[in-house]
Amino acid sequence: LNVMVQAAFKAGKGLARDFGEVQNLQVSLKGPGDYVSQADRKAEKLIRDELLKARPTYGFLGEESEEIIGTDGAHRWIVDPLDGTTNFLHGIPHFAISIALERQGEIVAAAVLNPATDELYTAERGGGAFLNDRRLRVAARKNLSDAVIGTGTPHLGHGNHGSYLVELRHVMGEVAGIRRMGAASLDLAYVAAGRFDGFWERGLHAWDLAAGILLIREAGGWVADIDGGNKPMEDGSIVAGNEYIRKALHDVLHRPIPGK
Ligand code: IPD
Repeated sequence: LNVMVQAAFKAGKGLARDFGEVQNLQVSLKGPGDYVSQADRKAEKLIRDELLKARPTYGFLGEESEEIIGTDGAHRWIVDPLDGTTNFLHGIPHFAISIALERQGEIVAAAVLNPATDELYTAERGGGAFLNDRRLRVAARKNLSDAVIGTGTPHLGHGNHGSYLVELRHVMGEVAGIRRMGAASLDLAYVAAGRFDGFWERGLHAWDLAAGILLIREAGGWVADIDGGNKPMEDGSIVAGNEYIRKALHDVLHRPIPGK
């Protein structure tokens, strides 16, 4: 975890600097509505170099570069160097560096840093989750009618907009509020911190999810993929919350469409 936190702070300094001069950054499109900037690429290189210098035999999966298969066969870093690129490029101070360590297919350590607010979320398996020095616990609310639920919306060229709108309509009719903040790793950290009671999104990648999943579990929360299974990273979908909210949100998301 120390290695991960040092790498996150180092890359965070660079991102904070670039955020101040965002209009000068080179930006390109990876696909419709999917932006990448010099800042993402620089941050990933720095993090990859730091992590692999400390643990040369581990594998590395990052959003912006080719996967490196480790020689030790057991460990892999999973990194999103800039989660919330669209926020970042629009001057919205809500973005993060997300770093996770996987061992034999299980996430065992997590660090999520928002360099704009200096909020650092960390967890180690069996050791609890923390926001800076404060131990985290998911919210205790049991009813969707009291709950604030985070989500991520599909964008131009991505996801099934029609079925998302059906899900949104179902959830909207049951909850106290819905939020779309724009950085999945922070959304999951917000669930761990009890700021959001629950969260759901489809169309994500392992690097958006890996660290946040451990944060939620270590804060006493529950995580499943959209079908209630145990494969959110493989499926790229997640439904999360405390035991009651995750189940209730799952049920609402799977409610049949009237007339179908
Ligand atoms: C994106 C953010 C966003 C989510 C998208 C992700 P990126 O990550 O997490 O909240 O809705 O699906 O791709 O591309 O900014 O690293």
